[in-house]
Order: sequence, then C-alpha cells, then structure tokens
Amino acid sequence: MPLRVCFVSAEYSPFAKTGGLGDVSAALTRHLARRGHDLRVFVPLHGQMELAGVDRHPVEFLQSLPLRVGQHEFRFSLQTARVPDTQLWIYLVDCPALFDRPRIYSDAPDEHVRYLALTRAAFECCQRMGFAPDVMHSNDWHTAFAPLLLRHAYAWDRQMFGGTRSVFTIHNIGYQGVFSAAQAGDVGPGIGIEALHQLDLGAGRINPMRHAVIYADAVTTVSPNYAVEIRTPEGGYGLDADLRARGDAVVGILNGVDYDEWNPTTDRYIPHHYGLDDLTGKLLNKQALLDLLRMPAAPNTPLVGMISRLARQKGIDLLLDVLPELLATREVRFVGLGSGEPHYERFMHGLQERFPGRATFYSGYSEELAHMIEAAADIFLMPSLYEPCGLNQMYSLKYGTVPIVRRTGGLADSVQHFDPATGQGTGIVFNDFDSGAVRWALDTALEWQGWPTVWRRLVLNGMRQDFSWDRAGAEYERLYQQLTGK
Ligand code: ADP
Ligand code: GLC
Repeated sequence: MPLRVCFVSAEYSPFAKTGGLGDVSAALTRHLARRGHDLRVFVPLHGQMELAGVDRHPVEFLQSLPLRVGQHEFRFSLQTARVPDTQLWIYLVDCPALFDRPRIYSDAPDEHVRYLALTRAAFECCQRMGFAPDVMHSNDWHTAFAPLLLRHAYAWDRQMFGGTRSVFTIHNIGYQGVFSAAQAGDVGPGIGIEALHQLDLGAGRINPMRHAVIYADAVTTVSPNYAVEIRTPEGGYGLDADLRARGDAVVGILNGVDYDEWNPTTDRYIPHHYGLDDLTGKLLNKQALLDLLRMPAAPNTPLVGMISRLARQKGIDLLLDVLPELLATREVRFVGLGSGEPHYERFMHGLQERFPGRATFYSGYSEELAHMIEAAADIFLMPSLYEPCGLNQMYSLKYGTVPIVRRTGGLADSVQHFDPATGQGTGIVFNDFDSGAVRWALDTALEWQGWPTVWRRLVLNGMRQDFSWDRAGAEYERLYQQLTGK
C-alpha cells in the first residue's frame, strides 16, 4: 500500500552534498517514489546550490510564511525542483536569512536555529498542504528534533499528525549538534524545557541527536554492524546507553548504491566504459586520469586512489608515515581527492611536493574527478577510524577497484577479505587502527596485484557484488509498514 512519507534532510545530491548523506537522501527517496509512495522531501535552499538548468518554480500558496524558532521570527517560501533525470519533485525551503550562506555547515552560533527552522518548516508545509504523513523520516542531528516536535509541538494537530510515526536515521553519530542550554528557548514554541533531556540541561548543553534517539518510533542506522557498534561505549559517543535502552527499535540497514550514477558501463564522467566481460576500458581510464593530472604514463604501475572528507574519522592519521614510505620505496602512484581539516590537507599537498609525478592531490570537491578516480585506480584506500556505512568502498567494488578497508562499521558489512587459496572475497580488510596494519594491507594488495590471475579473480568478485537500493529500499518499506500497520 502506498505510504505518505515526509523526508527531511540537510543534504540532497546533486543539489547539495558534502558526503554520503546527500547521496543516500537522494537515492532512497527516488527509490521510494519509484515504488509508488507519496514523498514530500524538504531540503534547505542552500546559497551555493547549483540549480542552473534545473526545472523549478515557487509553490504559489506557500510564499513568505512566518516561522518561529524560539524568539526568532523568520519568513520562508517554498520552491519545488525536479530532481534531474527523474519524475521526483522535491521542496526547497527558501529562507535566505538562514540558508543563503557560503557553506552548508558552519560553526556559526545560530547553526541549531538554521536546522530547527528547516525541521519546523517541513511540519508547517505539511499542514498547509493538507498532507498527513504516515511517516516523518529525519536524518542526522540537523533534523533530529522532528520526533520531539511530532510528540509535543504538533501533537495538537491530530488530523495531520495523529497517525504519523517517526523514523530517525543516524548517518554519523560523531556529529550530534550539541549547543548551549542557554539557548533552550530556541527549541520552542510548543516544546517546554521539561521535555528536554534534564541531565544534559543540568550539564549546560542540549543534544539534538539524543532527543531523536529517545523519541523516534524507530531509529535506524546505515549498516547492521554500526548498529551494534553505536550501542557500545567506544562507538556510541555518549549515546550508547540511550540506544541500548531502545532495544529492538534500533536497526541497521546497509545503504545501497545508486547504480544509475555509479556504474562503469554507463558513467557519464568517464571516457571509457567497461564491464565484467571486458576490462580494457579501465586501463584506458587510468591513462586518461594520469594524462589529466599531468602524471607520466605508467600503465603497469599500481595506482592507489582515495576520495575522502579529510576528517579524523577517515583514518588519515594512519597514512602520515605509511604513504610517504610507500611512495619512496615501491613502484606505485597515488591520487587523492578531498578537503577538510587543514593539517590533513597540508599532508596531502606535501606528498605531491615530495613525489612529483608519482602522487597528486586535488584539494576541493569534484564529482567528475571522483568518478574518474574510481574508474582509473587499481586500489582504493579507506582506512577509517569508524565508518557508519561508507559508499566509496561499494562504488570501488563496482568499478573493479580493489578496496582496502578497516574492519569497522559498514566497511565490515560490505567488503570480505580475499583468500587467494579459495578465490573468495572482495577486498583487503585489516583490523587494527595502527600504521603496521595499513602497511600490511598495502603490501598484500601490491603482492596480489603482481599475480594477474589472482588479481583478476579478486577484481571480478567485487564487480559482481550487488548493493542496489532494491534491497535497502525494501527494508525501509518493511520498517515503515511495521510502524504504521499499513
Ligand atoms: P561520508 O559521508 O562520511 O563523507 P561516504 O563514503 O558515505 O562518507 O560518502 C562520501 C561521498 O562523498 C561519496 O559519494 C564520495 O565520492 C563523495 N566525496 C567525498 N569527498 C569528495 C570530494 N572531495 N569530491 C567529490 N566527491 C567527494
Ligand atoms: C555518513 C557516514 C558514512 C555514510 C553516510 C551515508 O556521512 O560517515 O559512513 O555512508 O553518512 O549514510
């Protein structure tokens, strides 16, 4: 039975994306819409969104609406925009005072107000559109007050929200959106101080994500293994006890991959398509990437690729010694793409300076280069400290680019360590968060790469994996059905 789903997110690919949240918001909602559900997706109209050529228009009856967040008064308007190459239209919440800023996230003092406004705007619009959602699905700390708003601020509107169940997805527990208890008034109107977590308040803070964990009808996270890890003190970043208290209401659903976007047989960004039956194009892409980056031709030299937010989570610390050592002693090439913390950027730039023609780092964001690296590299490096799901290792598998991952979170759920004796497995998986382990993993990859039949088997095993949204989407549908009884 088709369900009415209100979906709220800070990011939505290709309009606004800093990482996997954008990819997953877009792919999941597109999948659900294709399955016939009635989706209303709310995303901020971020200042830096690329909307040239996108079909969009104002929603006439939802213009210049008042919005209160605590004592702050805003006005917002709604636009609707068609997701390119689909029939799905989403809503962009246009509130320049809050969203016309240079970046999607910042450490501005009103960061919590911006995203409370987005979350409230979704409720207000549902009311004015006469859309009574079966499910209110919110994501990460930004929209984490949705379950509490449903139970308190909007509970009076039984006609609209009386039957609504809330789902909250944790994409990354490392970011909880904590702000000062001095700003408690901003959670209102309709949510009194007594509804907030009292111990946190006493300690002078408010933790949006904790409220979602406590109040959502279901809490999902983006891999089964991460669902286990976040219930432990090491992985829970202070929310493990609240998560354990929710029992079966916490579930892990492994993200899918949008194979319309990430598929070497059709990829619009790569010059040479290829697939399981003929890998010639992969070699040509390697040459094309090296040319593009003005690196000397090296068709037989292993190319290690990396695409990452440069944050501690991504395990860059493990590479500080290992990558220079590898480049100094072995015949390899390295191409990195990413941006983030300045000291990691400096490290990556330093590699390029020390090893000209052998290592290249592109600082910034480039969708095109990301696809090229997946298509061109032999080995993909993802040594994360923690990884709720991770998408690039799944893209790598499809592109025949052997992933090196640490056994954590969704990486452990999506890559199996290869065994040359049995020919089973899809990548190289190491356990310990130390440089010895990552050094071992790289040495192992280079050794196997030297044996063409073994390597070919490993590459093809990966390319045969299927992480399409059909499976993940069906799990979300089942969850929605269980919650709503529909
Ligand atoms: P996270 O969400 O923690 O950053 P994921 O692996 O889930 O990690 O998703 C990262 C997504 O962001 C992938 O689609 C990846 O290709 C993309 N990405 C990350 N950094 C860049 C960049 N600098 N340029 C282009 N794409 C990037
Ligand atoms: C987060 C996680 C990443 C996950 C993504 C999408 O940003 O860090 O592991 O794949 O969200 O769910």
